[in-house]
Amino acid sequence: MAKKKSERKPKTKSAANKKRSAAGQAKKTRQKKKTATRAAPAARAPRENRKTVTATADERPAARVVEGLPLFDTDTSGTTRTPAPRVKTKPKRDARSEKPGREVPSAKRTREVAAVKPEQELFQAEAKPKVLETEREADSHEEASREEQETPKKPSKGKKTYETAETIAKRQREISISEFFAKNRHLLGFDSLSKALLTAVKEAVDNSLDACEEAGILPDLLVEIREQSEDRFHVVVADSGPGIVKAQVPKIFGKLLYGSKFHVLKQARGQQGIGISAAVMYSQLTTGKPVKVITRTNPRQDAHVYEIQIHTKTNTPVIISEGTQEWDRPHGTQVEIELLASYKKGQRSVDEYLHQVAMANPHAEIVYRPPRDPEVVYKRLASTLPVEAKAIKPHPHGIELGVLLDMLKVTHARNIKAFLEHEFSRMSARVSLDVLAAAKIPPTTAPKRITREQGDELVRAFAKAKIMKPPTDCLSPIGENLLLHTVQREADPEFFTAITRPPAVYRGNPFQIEAAIAYGGPMLPEDEIVRLYRFANRAPLVYQQSACAMTNSVMNTAWKNYGVSQARGALPAGPLLVVVHIASAWVPFTSESKEAIAHYPEIIKEIKLALQECGRRLARFIRRGAKARDEAKKRSYIEQYIPHVGVALKEILSLSEKEEERVVDTLRDTLEKSRTF
Ligand SMILES: Nc1ncnc2c1ncn2[C@@H]1O[C@H](COP(=O)(O)OP(=O)(O)O)[C@@H](O)[C@H]1O
Ligand SMILES: [Mg+2]
Repeated sequence: MAKKKSERKPKTKSAANKKRSAAGQAKKTRQKKKTATRAAPAARAPRENRKTVTATADERPAARVVEGLPLFDTDTSGTTRTPAPRVKTKPKRDARSEKPGREVPSAKRTREVAAVKPEQELFQAEAKPKVLETEREADSHEEASREEQETPKKPSKGKKTYETAETIAKRQREISISEFFAKNRHLLGFDSLSKALLTAVKEAVDNSLDACEEAGILPDLLVEIREQSEDRFHVVVADSGPGIVKAQVPKIFGKLLYGSKFHVLKQARGQQGIGISAAVMYSQLTTGKPVKVITRTNPRQDAHVYEIQIHTKTNTPVIISEGTQEWDRPHGTQVEIELLASYKKGQRSVDEYLHQVAMANPHAEIVYRPPRDPEVVYKRLASTLPVEAKAIKPHPHGIELGVLLDMLKVTHARNIKAFLEHEFSRMSARVSLDVLAAAKIPPTTAPKRITREQGDELVRAFAKAKIMKPPTDCLSPIGENLLLHTVQREADPEFFTAITRPPAVYRGNPFQIEAAIAYGGPMLPEDEIVRLYRFANRAPLVYQQSACAMTNSVMNTAWKNYGVSQARGALPAGPLLVVVHIASAWVPFTSESKEAIAHYPEIIKEIKLALQECGRRLARFIRRGAKARDEAKKRSYIEQYIPHVGVALKEILSLSEKEEERVVDTLRDTLEKSRTF
């Protein structure tokens, strides 16, 4: 009986606890509601918001404010600083609820809407009623589950209570890609203040150069960094590219993993669709400011101007404002981002990065306005665009089973033979039939009926089949001539050489390695470690040098064989500059921040072959130099004694002064004629 009593007791207690917690919960909810009602008017107070907004506009120096853009210009006092005659402003709205052909609301309404939406609200509960309702729900679920976990936790003495599958299940929920990268911004290259500035500039510049090249336009870039305070910068990157279609702007800048390059196999600087949107997210997290985008696709129409943020919890764009305005570029895109960052000089600075961009892109004209120093202009050296890279289909060599099965699911081909011929490169009708025969699959089988086992057989048959190498017109190398030009301009060396290797393949992806070296001359110090420039698809790699396959290959080349000193397992030292470039339809970066090349044996082998060829040419030059130095030393030694020989002969043979002079001249002539260098 006693035992039963003690069993019942905790039950009553927990029931009481539940009651109490329910009451507590109700109280909490009431309190929350109160706070919410109190907070709401403050958030909506138009005056305050007007202040915030006007301050934002005022912060920018007059010359830097893009004329005619009253997106945040809500000052009703009549003292507006930048009247905007041609701007038509629409109220901001969420791209998810965007409906085509919606009416432009009145100016008053526009102001109100703008005022109700300070940027920070994106992270708060009031910003988007619908979404936030869901978020609130999610939050309250979380809270409830937390309380639930807490309430029954009346641990019996000395016993630790662990979670159960059910309590854990209550916390399990989907993580959006933007939430993930907001926490892991270091993976995208935003792990320090100085790196953040460089990464933001890099992403915008990469996109600008890609867009210009795709549209066959010679790039005219403007990069401007304005210092707002010691750790806050305003970055502007403008290009002369084709511009962006209006409807695409919100998704490009307000959604991670959205782009045009991921599904296409051709050489480009960007690939993941996570470049510029990551910079927007970092800017939003550190300053709360939206990205401002001006873009124009048609010279006869006004440019579109947008202010956009990312709704981090759902990875969807939120349009803060949109409108049109006049712009001095007939077509192109301008991106403006404000972010917490620091501006530094040196090897990993924005200055150095842009210098290297100009090295690898001699067809681009870049105007750079650094925060403190005068403007720098990198003049266009080549007036033709690089060879256009064409999109190719995947090559069967190196295709993985999972990828093949996915392709089989979505293909429109009627049978497996047609699938092989049309969805892969280098698969002629004959090769397709051979491969299918080897895999024991009838050519008329419908692709969707191919089993996993048959897929496996197919991959094996691919590996054994003799298939032509993938087409390489998806690549656009810099070329030996331009590389020679670049290293000569860079270092004014005594010797320089360059090589472009024939294309090769790793995991079915075509790639091509180029290398150039410069040696000697006044600009390369004798006793320093090699100056190494790494490029991937013409984009400079500035960080993570030691983690890169390129550095590894330079280290593992036996430079001593070529007359350059090198400590064991280290980079070579001496008056040496090395450039390595990989051009590929898919560059295997070690992380999303695209800073280092992964260690694929095929890539390392190609880099080493290129460096060895350059090394052999350098060795010939150095050997010739050593021989010449040796001979010059002996010659100067002999030259010193020629007059003394003349005097001695004069005495022994009783020569006249004239005869002595003639003997000395003859000896000098003979020495000169024997010169080999
Ligand atoms: N300046 C620009 N001009 C034209 N299109 C652009 C520009 N910037 C970005 N885009 C488009 O937006 C897409 C997404 O860009 P981004 O997030 O940097 O990813 P990625 O460059 O890896 O594709 C690009 O694929 C491109 O289609
Ligand atoms: Mg990009």
